[in-house]
Amino acid sequence: MESPHLEQLEHTFAEHYGAPRGAYLVLAPGRVNLIGDHVDYNGLSVLPMALQRHVAILYCERDDPTVRIVSTDPDYRLRSFELGPSIEPYPEGDWGNYAKAAGQALAQRHGELRGFDAVVHSDIPVAAGLSSSSALVVASALAVLHANDIEMEKLALAELLAEAEHYVGTRGGGMDQAICLAARRGSASRIDFNPLRLTAHPIPPDWGFIVAFSLIRAEKSGTARETYNLRTRECGEALQQMTAALGLADRIDSYPTLLAELPPAQLVSRAEEALEGTLLRRFRHVVSEADRVHRAERALIDYDLKGFGHLLTESHQSLRDDFEVSCPELDELVEIALRTGAAGARLTGAGLGGCVVALCEERRVNKVLKTLAKRFYATRGFEGRLEDQVFLAEPSAGASVAAL
Ligand code: GLA
Repeated sequence: MESPHLEQLEHTFAEHYGAPRGAYLVLAPGRVNLIGDHVDYNGLSVLPMALQRHVAILYCERDDPTVRIVSTDPDYRLRSFELGPSIEPYPEGDWGNYAKAAGQALAQRHGELRGFDAVVHSDIPVAAGLSSSSALVVASALAVLHANDIEMEKLALAELLAEAEHYVGTRGGGMDQAICLAARRGSASRIDFNPLRLTAHPIPPDWGFIVAFSLIRAEKSGTARETYNLRTRECGEALQQMTAALGLADRIDSYPTLLAELPPAQLVSRAEEALEGTLLRRFRHVVSEADRVHRAERALIDYDLKGFGHLLTESHQSLRDDFEVSCPELDELVEIALRTGAAGARLTGAGLGGCVVALCEERRVNKVLKTLAKRFYATRGFEGRLEDQVFLAEPSAGASVAAL
């Protein structure tokens, strides 16, 4: 297997642990969600794809339960811990907690485990809404499983890791782990929950999805996390109030069952009578976004670029106005992309910073990329590597492990 960063990984490995012997390489991709945000934790379908950017882990197994893990990025220092069913977390925000989250969940499931010495390298921008943290959890888990010759079915592992990631404090849904493990190259996947399943749809060859970072980091351990957790509670309350108002509380306790009862447009108009303020807005987003995901899937199957683009832009408006998870920088990126000829654009992931995704015809991609560079990044005096902030997404395969 190829990793453009192999030399760097091997060099850092040798620096910390000596020459790697019997090494394996794990690759776990980041993701961009095309449509369906803040619905996965409500049990509703989403439509993401994996990216060509990865968390790579080079590891050599050990004979004891110790895990030592270090990064090629000097900001992330060496961490060392023992695998077991109850691992004491590092202080909040510590990067080592992602590996611990995977290690603890797998030890609870599989008993005694052997550890490894590992080096991590990531080219997924951190705190950018591209799921670098779930990729790290997935990559760590695959290293643990592989070092112990344990096979787990991908979707069962994705479900386990979605739970496991709560160890770091965010009560996320299951989208990120599922797409990271089970994505198909060249495709986006509709993900359904309870039970978890993926349906891959090829991305038409002349569609280009541009990902652009707002330069605002949405830290999973800071205010963004609090807002995220608050939104999950608000969605639950809105559901409760609606089922009570509709007289369905005794038999309906989830968004999918509610949507099976009444069509989205009717639910929204009933909500406009029964709910008010914040809860009305949250409810309207969830129900209308669920509907957009299904319409977007249809547009993708029909190669209907205009239709798909239109739904992206509607989704952004809903996330901005009803779900209140946008910010001026995300809105500006969406505006610039649309003005330059993108068919549609929206914030992607949890929001409150992070990235937007814009859909364009292939022939317009360069123009949109250039205009974003000029109007957004240059005006802010941005001087880093622009190709890490704004790039064309390549629908990529899920995570893998290979011998070096
Ligand atoms: C984060 C979570 C996902 C999902 C998105 C919003 O990325 O990890 O499970 O809820 O936010 O759609």
